[in-house]
Amino acid sequence: MLDYDDEALHYDASRGGEPRARAAADAVERLLPQGPGVVLDIACGTGIVTERLRGPGRTVVGVDRSPGMLGLAGRRMPGGVVRGDATRLPFAAASVDAVVIVWLLHLLPDPEPVLAEAARVLRPGGVLITTVDKNGGYFAEDSDIARVTADLRQQYAPQAPDDSARVLRWAAERGLRVAGRTVFPGTGQGRSPRRWCEAIGAELISWCTHASPDQLADVRRRLAALPDQDVARPDPQYRLVALKSRPSESQAARYQPAPAARQKTDSPVSVVKRSRADTPATELPRLSSPGLQTHRVQTPGTMAMIPPPTPLLPGSPTR
Ligand SMILES: C[S@@+](CC[C@H](N)C(=O)[O-])C[C@H]1O[C@@H](n2cnc3c(N)ncnc32)[C@H](O)[C@@H]1O
Repeated sequence: MLDYDDEALHYDASRGGEPRARAAADAVERLLPQGPGVVLDIACGTGIVTERLRGPGRTVVGVDRSPGMLGLAGRRMPGGVVRGDATRLPFAAASVDAVVIVWLLHLLPDPEPVLAEAARVLRPGGVLITTVDKNGGYFAEDSDIARVTADLRQQYAPQAPDDSARVLRWAAERGLRVAGRTVFPGTGQGRSPRRWCEAIGAELISWCTHASPDQLADVRRRLAALPDQDVARPDPQYRLVALKSRPSESQAARYQPAPAARQKTDSPVSVVKRSRADTPATELPRLSSPGLQTHRVQTPGTMAMIPPPTPLLPGSPTR
């Protein structure tokens, strides 16, 4: 995985900037429950999508493990971000109405610990929205790159951590049902043959990580032979799926929604700095049951101080 602390300053500009973020947030919004509630954006990054999910009566919280990315998110959403690992979320079970995961699963060796944590913090009947098939999004349209990579994709895409069939299998086994799907355009994100070669060489493409060195060398050679080496091919269409959790009988018995749960909860999440770095440094307000509540993560150091904001530097796209 990339070092997102290093990426932070260039991240937004190199990932389609505001148009991509707006398109992603609009697509997530189409799948989110409307009205008041608590939305947790896991792997919020710089918060460029997260901040757009805020709305009347909705409390939006971003969590990310990269201090560099989170510093920028904190500028966008003061008091609304928490440092934490997606495999050990610092939130109580059944405490959020919706979980959003944009562009995380494809980066992971195994998506299940993150999906399981997302399902844990989701209240019964809540919605988990995630991107799937990230690298497949580039092939919504036919192109010479689509043809050159077709064999590898057919062979290895099912092993990608964010493969939609894999995510839906996981969901079905846990009683989550598909509640919606949508796509959003990756404006300005189409890659040229040269950039595909670089991305494959840097092991950034999930369906390539299982291919043999010979297969990778062959596909890179064929990409390098394509015309217009620096001309980007069609923009990708990134896919989102919404999974709705079903209250089981035991969950329903434990979960007693109070009328206050649906009340307007626009108080910002507060970040409390403490004097010792090895104590949990972040606290969220205890919203009226069953609102968002933190729980202490036992491992020291899993939550840390959110760094001061880092200035955004103008920069040209790096990847
Ligand atoms: C590709 S960026 C996506 C950021 C944001 N969702 C967006 O669409 O702009 C991936 C983010 O995942 C974060 N990340 C990776 N692994 C994580 C983990 N285990 N727990 C929390 N965040 C993680 C990285 O720090 C990075 O900010």
